[in-house]
Amino acid sequence: PRPILLTRHGESRDNVRGRIGGDTALSEAGDLYAKKLANFVEKRLKSERTASIWTSTLQRTILTASPIVGFPKIQWRALDEINAGVCDGMTYEEIKKNMPEEYESRKKDKLRYRYPRGESYLDVIQRLEPVIIELERQRAPVVVISHQAVLRALYAYFADRPLKEIPHIEVPLHTIIEIQMGVTGVQEKRYKLMD
Ligand code: F6P
Repeated sequence: PRPILLTRHGESRDNVRGRIGGDTALSEAGDLYAKKLANFVEKRLKSERTASIWTSTLQRTILTASPIVGFPKIQWRALDEINAGVCDGMTYEEIKKNMPEEYESRKKDKLRYRYPRGESYLDVIQRLEPVIIELERQRAPVVVISHQAVLRALYAYFADRPLKEIPHIEVPLHTIIEIQMGVTGVQEKRYKLMD
């Protein structure tokens, strides 16, 4: 068995303000998580000769990976957060107030809803295919530091959860989801490193 560790980036400045998308740096709490994650990964993967750290191309995942030393890091555009198009940088409140029809259509069918000039969950699931193929091919552990929507899709793939559940799966901040791929199937553990 070899572990795949899935985690969101540490809390970002946009998370604090409730803004979606964007490319902000980490909050103080987010910085602290990055340090705790590095500790965890160094202990957990100490005995592994090879392992790699995969991030998106967005600052908040790269900064979350930065305290981890001793493992190669790879940036994937396919791990970037769902593109909220014209809604990028807005709060859910602002979308509800300024674009009530968009807000309602997303609520009705969050899986298929595509942000104007952005993506849907189905789009995200599709662009993750090469990442999943590469994750399956790896023999060594991988730490994936990505974003809420993307991790919902990745997690659903490994945990064999139905498509329609994907946009609603709980993937909290500051929590590591460890997936063990063994001959007998997939096992899961969650480590909440901080609130
Ligand atoms: O709020 C954090 C965030 O990662 C946003 O950048 C993104 O748009 C959102 O979560 C995805 O979650 P949901 O699909 O529930 O809006």
